[in-house]
Amino acid sequence: MRRKLTTPIMYDNNPTLDGIKQIDESRQGTALYKEQWADSFAPGGKQFYIESYGCQMNFSDSEIVASILAEVGYTPTRNAEQSDLILINTCSIREKAEETVRKRLRAFESIKQERPGTMVGVLGCMAERLKKKWLEEEKLVDLVVGPDAYRDLPKLIGAAEDGQRMINVLLSREETYSDINPVRLESNGITAFISIMRGCDNMCSFCVVPFTRGRERSRDPFSILAEATNLFENGYREVTLLGQNVDSYKWDNPETGQHVDFADLLEMVAQINPLLRVRFSTSHPKDMTDKVLQNMARYDNICKYIHLPVQSGNSRVLELMNRTYDRPWYENRIEAIRQILPDAAVSSDIIAGFCSETEEEHQDTLSIIEWANFSMSYMFYYSERPGTLAAKRYADDVPLEVKKRRLNEIIRLQTAISLRHNQADIGKTFEVLIEGDSRKSDQDFCGRNSQNKMIVFPKKEGLKPGDYTMVTVKDATSATLLGDIAS
Ligand code: 5AD
Ligand code: SF4
Repeated sequence: MRRKLTTPIMYDNNPTLDGIKQIDESRQGTALYKEQWADSFAPGGKQFYIESYGCQMNFSDSEIVASILAEVGYTPTRNAEQSDLILINTCSIREKAEETVRKRLRAFESIKQERPGTMVGVLGCMAERLKKKWLEEEKLVDLVVGPDAYRDLPKLIGAAEDGQRMINVLLSREETYSDINPVRLESNGITAFISIMRGCDNMCSFCVVPFTRGRERSRDPFSILAEATNLFENGYREVTLLGQNVDSYKWDNPETGQHVDFADLLEMVAQINPLLRVRFSTSHPKDMTDKVLQNMARYDNICKYIHLPVQSGNSRVLELMNRTYDRPWYENRIEAIRQILPDAAVSSDIIAGFCSETEEEHQDTLSIIEWANFSMSYMFYYSERPGTLAAKRYADDVPLEVKKRRLNEIIRLQTAISLRHNQADIGKTFEVLIEGDSRKSDQDFCGRNSQNKMIVFPKKEGLKPGDYTMVTVKDATSATLLGDIAS
């Protein structure tokens, strides 16, 4: 059947929803990576194919989308060529991330030529940022759906099946998808993400997320506990609590007035079972409290790992970034971690070449990386994003060549520190949660220790993914530890 393309139907006719102008785009504390998809097939049913880009939150959202689509008879497939619906869950955090998505769309063009009935939908932060421009600029796009509008997918898909091009990019102050039980995609059956909050109110000047993901809102703790308990009962042994800024999680019970903050939530999840590990990401240095650190210390199953993005080591640059802390504040948080959690590993995000950054200020970033002894960092050069505070206020005046050179210096230093950090583990014995076969050999298992370091070690009979085992580290690279099961 040939589907006719009609004028877009706009649900989004309010340009200042939520009191903030919807302009740009997304993030979260991880590098760009790509997911390409799981299988399960209902004969005769419709199939969708989904690719996710960007942060862990996007991957988690794709699992919510899969659950919503399951209700209307769509099952996931790995095979885009045979699917009825191709979805691309997009990221706008940096220009490069957007370029990657645009390139990927080109690959779907040939599929659509061969099977004109195939629908193509753009989800996530680029949907929110570019809105109806998608329908104007990309002929193959049938659906544009922002991060808070996934419940509307069945309706939008229904209309798209009738040949209409549909868009819903409304942001919400309430949506947390708390009642939706995510369908786990590409799961190893051992580790899972649980989204505990959405949006961000921080307004870091470089960041597009507050515009693409809207205002901060926290999910009710009981639905989080139910999801974590259900995962544990189904064999999962590790949950990562996700949010743009987990430390500002807050929930008030409307009936009892009970207040739950992030430290309380961590404790509640840790109490589900000592065999369920708890991780979280991402923390903001301005509101990571000692109470969180103390609760981490009290429970062995709360992993001793904190992703605490510093972004820059210079107080003037931090001020321009609107991070609302300065270097001494950040150092104080690291000192608190060292004191309360002496075994903890800390990782970071770093931006090289932010507006007006001088050579000396860049040196401050190098020195804080050294001082904080980060186990690893996600490192980027500054990429101006339309609509952000920095784009409006400051000139993007560090030349690209300088940004790249500074980034290289940062990467070189961090790689050396990661190697040193890992080498310091040689001879130590860690409890490791086995996640599966190592990527290089089916004779080896891989799993992480509490500090989030991946350890590869030879298999032993009787052990399987999901088991905990003690592993002694024998060797290390900057990325991985190599070990043997402790006898
Ligand atoms: N340019 C470069 N890096 C950015 N990040 C966020 N916005 C930008 C930008 N405009 C980085 C920050 C953040 C991480 C998820 O992405 O370091 O912590
Ligand atoms: Fe972006 Fe800052 Fe919010 Fe993180 S805390 S999502 S960097 S605005």
